[in-house]
Amino acid sequence: MSEGNLLYKGKAKSVFAADDSNVLSVVFRDDITALDGLKKNTFEGKGACNAKVTAYFYPILEKNGVPTHFIKSVNETTQLVRKLKMIPLEVVVRNRAAGSLVRNYGFTEGQYLEKPIIVMDLKDDSRHDPMINDDIILALKFVTETELAEIKRLALLVNKILKENLAEKNIDLIDMKLEFGKDNEGLIRLGDEISMDSLRLWDKGEICASMDKDIYRKDKGDVMEVYRKTVERIVN
Ligand code: ATP
Ligand code: TYD
Repeated sequence: MSEGNLLYKGKAKSVFAADDSNVLSVVFRDDITALDGLKKNTFEGKGACNAKVTAYFYPILEKNGVPTHFIKSVNETTQLVRKLKMIPLEVVVRNRAAGSLVRNYGFTEGQYLEKPIIVMDLKDDSRHDPMINDDIILALKFVTETELAEIKRLALLVNKILKENLAEKNIDLIDMKLEFGKDNEGLIRLGDEISMDSLRLWDKGEICASMDKDIYRKDKGDVMEVYRKTVERIVN
């Protein structure tokens, strides 16, 4: 692998071509961003923390019936994944109210939701990831109705598996962002990552006891101290 075969440099990960054209090599970098990329920093070890949590969860999800892109870890920050045709949606699953649900709709911070809420945003930084709905998704022909139903089914299944796993560690899964794509046979698979950047986690029983990227978004403390502790709680 070399800089020569870089296919895409995102805000936090770099995607490289691999020897097999159906495979990508994803490198979790130490970069962290918030506020649509306006706030940026680099913290040594951050990429490895997120890669470790992703490498922990994806095999568990596979075993429990969620097709994922994950193949294997190559080192602390690099993973081989199946190349997917990504569906440009950020699929957010919420168990308790936080973030934009509180800002935009008047829920109380931490309010328990009777059933998980799925919110989909268009993944398009230039448009500030606007919220999208089923009719717009279908009109844009991102997916068929059956595929959309499958994405929602998988998102709720991922939520159930993660929520139960984290609860055993006294961590409350407040919400999370997932990304899906289609493999070369048209099967919908979970792509991207599951990490402190994409999960909102609170220490059980406490309101806003953040164990995730909210520490960075809201300047709530030492990002790496929190990321390292969260990895230990989840993986060990
Ligand atoms: P954001 O930070 O909002 O998720 P980004 O594009 O900056 O956006 P990164 O995580 O830095 O995100 O970059 C990783 C990129 O690789 C994303 O565009 C993601 O959709 C894409 N991606 C993830 N998994 C796969 C996959 N299996 N096949 C192809 N592309 C993928
Ligand atoms: P949300 O409340 O919509 O966003 P914010 O509070 O940042 O405005 O976030 C819901 C969840 O989705 C939360 O776990 C963070 C995650 N998320 C991402 O991973 N990437 C994103 O671009 C956004 C907007 C949210």
